[in-house]
Amino acid sequence: MGRMDDDILKVLYTEEEIAARIREMGAAMYRDLEGKDPLFISVLRGAFVFMADIVRACQVRSDVEFIAVSSYGSATKSSGAVQITHDIQQDITGRHLVVIEDILDSGNTLAFLKQYFLTKGAASVTICTLLDKPSRRTKAVHADYVGFEVPDEFVVGYGLDYAQKYRNLPYIGVLKPEVYGG
Ligand code: PRP
Repeated sequence: MGRMDDDILKVLYTEEEIAARIREMGAAMYRDLEGKDPLFISVLRGAFVFMADIVRACQVRSDVEFIAVSSYGSATKSSGAVQITHDIQQDITGRHLVVIEDILDSGNTLAFLKQYFLTKGAASVTICTLLDKPSRRTKAVHADYVGFEVPDEFVVGYGLDYAQKYRNLPYIGVLKPEVYGG
């Protein structure tokens, strides 16, 4: 099996670089959200690590929720079909939502969620993503806060997985192609 680190081709962002960027994002978000009683909604599973850090970097009065979504396999994912497997547990009518994602890729997930939350009566839906991969976008989605723009490489760590593994790496790295048979 070996160490997880051995499967990493290169480190894109170290633990320290991620922490510094999140401090900046949290400060910017605080200025925009102060007094709005925002509801932070984390999209499981990938965003769970980022969620824990960004809510502590943004010391605004707020509460948290979690939503889990899945796509019907990779083929359907590209067609944009998203299914909610665990929904939020409260009425969001009139609330200012901040959706927390680990990565914005095709845009399918966030395009769906933004529409879903607006349909449920949210006053506003702000999108905060740690990583943005604009080269893969097929849906027009605007992220209000972006940590880092990443190239189209297989990134793992800090919540991001390959076959459900590597989420607990403290940094973000590129997986060696031989690990995923690339
Ligand atoms: C990843 C990521 C986003 C989504 C982004 O989730 O966490 O939710 O894909 O891709 P999109 O912009 O093309 O929709 P994934 O389906 O891998 O599940 P996970 O969060 O459990 O890792």
